[in-house]
Amino acid sequence: MGKVWGVINLNILVVGGGAREHAICDAVCRSKGDIKLYSIMHNLNPGIKHLSKDFLQEKETNVSQVVKYAKEKEIDLVIVGPEAPLEAGLVNELNKNGIDAYSPTKEAARIETDKEWMRGLLKRYKIHGQLKCESFTDVQKAKRFIDGLNGEIAIKPIGLTGGKGVKVAGDHFHGVDEALTYVKEVIDEKIGGKAKVLIEEKAVGEEFTLQAFSDGYSILPFHAVQDHKRLLPGDEGPNTGGMGSYSCADGLLPFLSKSEYEEAAVILQKIVEALNKEGCKYIGPIYGQFMVTTDGPKIIEINARFGDPEAMNVLPLLETDFIGICKAMLDGSISNEKIRLKKKSTVCKYIVPEGYGVKSMVGEKVLVDEKSIEDTGSRLFYASVNKDNDNIYTTSSRSLAIVGIADNLYDAEKICEEALNHISGEHIFIRHDIGTAELIEKRMEHMIKLRGM
Ligand code: AMP
Ligand code: GLY
Repeated sequence: MGKVWGVINLNILVVGGGAREHAICDAVCRSKGDIKLYSIMHNLNPGIKHLSKDFLQEKETNVSQVVKYAKEKEIDLVIVGPEAPLEAGLVNELNKNGIDAYSPTKEAARIETDKEWMRGLLKRYKIHGQLKCESFTDVQKAKRFIDGLNGEIAIKPIGLTGGKGVKVAGDHFHGVDEALTYVKEVIDEKIGGKAKVLIEEKAVGEEFTLQAFSDGYSILPFHAVQDHKRLLPGDEGPNTGGMGSYSCADGLLPFLSKSEYEEAAVILQKIVEALNKEGCKYIGPIYGQFMVTTDGPKIIEINARFGDPEAMNVLPLLETDFIGICKAMLDGSISNEKIRLKKKSTVCKYIVPEGYGVKSMVGEKVLVDEKSIEDTGSRLFYASVNKDNDNIYTTSSRSLAIVGIADNLYDAEKICEEALNHISGEHIFIRHDIGTAELIEKRMEHMIKLRGM
């Protein structure tokens, strides 16, 4: 690797066309210096397009084209949003061509792209927060393991499935027979890329996300966030990429104590250290999905990137210079840095096409009144939409996100809903229950009940 970093002129390339990448672009543009933003995305995200000096519409996994574009535009630093280009070795190729990236190499990204390897790493380095788990290529052997856990399991394809391949007992299937049907399907159809399945003990509690910057040695953690994976209100329906999320001004969550937060941060720190010892130094944002149980936080998954939607809860609060932190990450000096976040609560709700998670209604018009949204104090981040003659159209993925930001959760949710009034469309869907007092109280009661208090 190797540019000598100039302070003043920087050409930054952001890869990816979702709301997470729009939030990353926004953080880049708020950084000090003369920054020129370039972007590569498969769609035509109007928010990213607006912020970029130039962009290329291209598949993010087309490594040779991304590298070619980065060279043409004399890019100093690349930030990769989604996981697929990491798995395709984009960062490795950029580095070979002398271009720095604030994202992990293919080898370091295995922490997300190979769930079996991730679990093996946790075992080898005796990292806290583990769940009983084993991988299988044989349905009968899997059955013995499932019986041993009384069917209280999660079934996971080994590789990437866009957050939609995991099935959990009680939520997505009932009983051992239904479990085995899915185990067989994952193996036979090589869901997630391998004729293999990972079976994990089911963790019971409340989920939270902890994202952090990593320079390969140390981490700088953000506020904790709670995502909502299920499609429908009340946490019903299929898993999605995430329908919305919230975070609190104090950095914790209503059901999460400071010591549990700190335990999760130590886990991420240990994972970064373990990756370094394995010879794959981890540079970039790291994402831990945890279940806080009566026995502390348990690791559900680790991602090699910011979360989507969770990036939208934390990046708008960033007061520290984003590009300054990226540079420190590449220099291995983040332990000298401090991460300053506004002490605000956030509620993020996604607008998705009707049928999302099952069969999305593609090409539907969405009316967005940007000015009125801004006037509420909310932030708007465009996702997988296309813009044509001032009209916004849905694709099969999530369309756009609104983030309400305020001193407390109640106001953040209220502001978010006010902004949502300025978005309309005949075929859109929103989980309005996210961030509401009713749902949050349900989560707190759940933990109180589990803790037997
Ligand atoms: P993942 O794609 O690994 O994030 O899994 C999707 C969702 O399934 C998670 O957000 C959890 O809600 C749930 N899940 C995954 N693994 C487990 C587990 N071992 N125990 C309980 N729930 C899980
Ligand atoms: N919100 C879940 C993820 O980004 O994987």
